[in-house]
Amino acid sequence: MQVDFGYEQVSPEEKTRRVGQVFSSVARNYDLMNDLMSLGVHRLWKQWLRTHAALRPGMRVLDLAGGTGDVARLLRADVGPTGQVVLADINAGMLAVGRDRLLDAGIADVPPVQANAEALPLANGRFDRVTIAFGLRNVTHKPQALAEMRRVLKPGGMLLILEFSMPENPALRSTYDAYSFGVLPWLGGLVAQDADSYRYLAESIRTFPDPDHLDTLLFEAGFDEVRHARLSAGIVCLHKARVF
Ligand SMILES: C[S@@+](CC[C@H](N)C(=O)[O-])C[C@H]1O[C@@H](n2cnc3c(N)ncnc32)[C@H](O)[C@@H]1O
Repeated sequence: MQVDFGYEQVSPEEKTRRVGQVFSSVARNYDLMNDLMSLGVHRLWKQWLRTHAALRPGMRVLDLAGGTGDVARLLRADVGPTGQVVLADINAGMLAVGRDRLLDAGIADVPPVQANAEALPLANGRFDRVTIAFGLRNVTHKPQALAEMRRVLKPGGMLLILEFSMPENPALRSTYDAYSFGVLPWLGGLVAQDADSYRYLAESIRTFPDPDHLDTLLFEAGFDEVRHARLSAGIVCLHKARVF
């Protein structure tokens, strides 16, 4: 079986290895690049996710593929001292930056867990919410990872997936393509000395399932209620999937 790594078809093992290389390479400059590429708008998208998570004090949250901890930090404030947020990611370099940033922000109670979304080392029915922001695109076996997310959710719990998508308007699409394949690799080369990883970013957005297809994958993974909403002219999409 072959899977996509950007526009290339590779073995699943090769995809996992190359995604690992991408994030090990960009970890140190990841946050700066996010601000530059999106002109800071990724912060608003993450706030949007936070609002939809509708957290209450005492809830338990798993932020999966949480990388450098942006989302975990936002959500930690909402669950209060009786709640818990776990930051999980497959990449040690991204997690190390995340742990340091959380500690710098005075947050010492978000445990970083190195884990593959496809095989979570976590008990069934443990979390009220699972969040994954800009992470699912990079996961090799997506149906397996979605089934794992469902497994660790409590009955009544909710998965929130924030991902890039493609604008629906054709005129905007061509501008977005020009930006993605022109500006992003150039900026990645300049700031992170790594144009290839940012070319992968642009390609992986285009090979990711469209929102309706992802809804189908969520139902197939056993979620009971699935919805999505687009933001920023369709550049990002938020999926909410509930377990009853
Ligand atoms: C684009 S970053 C997103 C980080 C963070 N969620 C954010 O929004 O800034 C994608 C993250 O997914 C992680 N990742 C990729 N494959 C994964 C997997 N199979 N399991 C867990 N994390 C994974 C990467 O290591 C990386 O930190």
